[in-house]
Parts: sequence; structure tokens; C-alpha cells
Amino acid sequence: MKIAGPQTNSIALKLGSLTLDVPFFQASLSGYSDCAMRTLARRFGCPFTLADMMLAKSAANPRFLRKACFRPVADEHPVGAQILGRNPATMASAARDLVAAGYDVIDLNFACPAPKILRRGRGGAMLNEPDTVIDSLKAVRDVIVAPVLMKLRIGANHKPQSLDNFWEIVTRSIENGVDALVIHGRTVSERFRGKADWDLLAAVKNRFPDATIVGSGDIFEPPATVDLMKRTGLDGFVVARGAVGNPWIFRDLRCVWENRPLPPPPELTEQRLVILEHFERILKDYPEKKAVRIFRKFFAGYVRRHPRRKPALLSLMKTKTRAEVETALNTWYTDTYPNA
Ligand SMILES: Cc1cc2nc3c(=O)[nH]c(=O)nc-3n(C[C@H](O)[C@H](O)[C@H](O)COP(=O)(O)O)c2cc1C
Repeated sequence: MKIAGPQTNSIALKLGSLTLDVPFFQASLSGYSDCAMRTLARRFGCPFTLADMMLAKSAANPRFLRKACFRPVADEHPVGAQILGRNPATMASAARDLVAAGYDVIDLNFACPAPKILRRGRGGAMLNEPDTVIDSLKAVRDVIVAPVLMKLRIGANHKPQSLDNFWEIVTRSIENGVDALVIHGRTVSERFRGKADWDLLAAVKNRFPDATIVGSGDIFEPPATVDLMKRTGLDGFVVARGAVGNPWIFRDLRCVWENRPLPPPPELTEQRLVILEHFERILKDYPEKKAVRIFRKFFAGYVRRHPRRKPALLSLMKTKTRAEVETALNTWYTDTYPNA
């Protein structure tokens, strides 16, 4: 059975039948992109988000789908699921189940560089296996009508064979109807070192002008990002680390894209309200202790805007309860924060 995907009318970025009114969206970020982060991003103007990467073989399990990192909620559409696996039939059945569970888009991960994923031949390891990648795409394409994206890196490493495999995967996935390629401009072995190679991403777009090519890598500054996109000719980009503890990036990207002046950076009191809002969203989905543990991962991002970043972060990282988080925020996120 084929399941239909979403239809909208906007035009800045086309992901198959899904169109977005701005050319960016929030990446899948394992351990971060749960319901709370996704819905907050939407509130700040992000038009589409991807949930945490999930193992294809687990996706059919209803208990798994109840977890906040994987569950799509009513007010967050369109939202995409990203799946990881090496068996085309399992990938296809996961894709069908996830669309039936409410996901609007399916993204296939052939990019993850985590050693435990690579050891099992999944994620980025599959960039060495063009046939299996294409078989997975075809199997998924056959069972859903919803847009199918693929997340790639620019190869397993910088050896010529890796680059050949990368081009083969790009070429054959476009021939086989992928709706968009989302490409992180680093190799798997580079992980997050060095700068993302946007020139290679531009070369992909140049060779396949009719395909939708979305870039990923080092997206932190809204004006520079929009310039980069225009210079490289890519169709869009994903925001990843730049969105951790920084939902304002979506508001600012929208302003730059729409040629509106950037609003002033949020003052401490506004930051406090948004940080608390994020925390409240997390508290809805997890018991208090776990919620605080999850939330602490976002502090490093939020304190980047604080004038006394180090002591503020130290104080926030010590929190273990909801009351302690609130006290720390009330101490550091007012005009009378400790200044010595
Ligand atoms: C903590 C973390 C988790 C990530 N998890 C995923 C993931 O689950 N799926 C995925 O495709 N990419 C994942 N990525 C990669 C990002 O989506 C993105 O491609 C990469 O961070 C480069 O973009 P940036 O330099 O703008 O952060 C992750 C990155 C980080 C830092």
C-alpha cells in the first residue's frame, strides 16, 4: 500500500511534494532533536524538522514510537523521521510504519560517523556500498508516496575510491527518484574536524541542476549562510549545531532570507523566558531528573550569549532538580546577575 505525503503551496525549497517557504530546516540531531527542540524551533520560524535518527528495525515497535524523541505530535507537522539500517526490506517496512504513524517525510541516514554505528556497517559505512544504498532507496520509494530524502557525507574518507562511491551514490539516487539529497560537506573519517567542503556541494548541484541538493556543515551565522547558499547555488541547507540552545537562529535566518533587518539579539530576560519554555516542553515528556539531565546538554548553547558565560555554565551544569534549574536561571538571567 502506498501512503500519501503532504501538500503545501510555498516555494523556497521543494522536498518532493513538500514545499517550504524558506530554504532551510532543522537537522536530525541524535540526543537533541526531541519533541521539545523541534516544537521550539517551529515556534521560532523553522518550517520543518527531523526527529532523532532511529534504527529501522526498532521503528515498528509502538513502545519505541511513544518516546518523545521519536513521537510526532499534532502541532508539529511537517516533521520527518530519519532511519538507519542496512537491510532494504527492513528500511522499507520502517518507512511505511513511520508514515502510518504520522511522519510526513522519510530520511535515510547514510552519514552517521559514530564508531558503534560504523562497526555494524550502518550509517556512514554504507557510503562504501553504493548497491545497498540504492536498493534501500528503491525499496523505500516503492512503498511510500511521502518524500524520501537521503543524508550523505562526501565519502567515507578522502581516498579516490571513496569519492567515486560518493558520486555513484549521488548519480544513482537521483536517477532512482530521491526527492532531495542532504549532504554534510565532510567525510565520515573527518567526523566534525576542519571546515565543511561547500565547493564539492556546489559541484554536485552544478552537475545535477534539476535535483534538490541541500547542504550541511558549519551553519552558525545567518547572513553568511544565506550568502553561502546563493554563492554555491544549492537549494537549501540544514541547521544542526547552530540550533542547539539557539532557537533564535531560525527567526534570524528568516529575516535575512526575506531581506528584513535583523532584530536585536535577545536580552537576558527574554533569553530566560525562552530557556524556561524549552525546559517546560522537556518536562512534559520526561520525569524531572531525566528532564534536567537532557536539558543540561542545551546549556552550553544557551550560555553562548551570556556576558559571563563560564560561571553561568558552571552554575547551570550543577543543577539536578527543576527548582535548582529555576533558581540558577533566576540568578544568571536577570539584569542583576553576579558580575564578579
Ligand atoms: C550531537 C549531534 C548529533 C547528530 N545527529 C545526527 C543524526 O542523528 N542524523 C544526521 O543525519 N545527522 C546528525 N548530526 C549531523 C548534523 O545533522 C549535521 O550534518 C552536522 O552537524 C554538520 O552541520 P553543522 O556543522 O552545521 O552542525 C549530528 C550532529 C551532532 C553535532
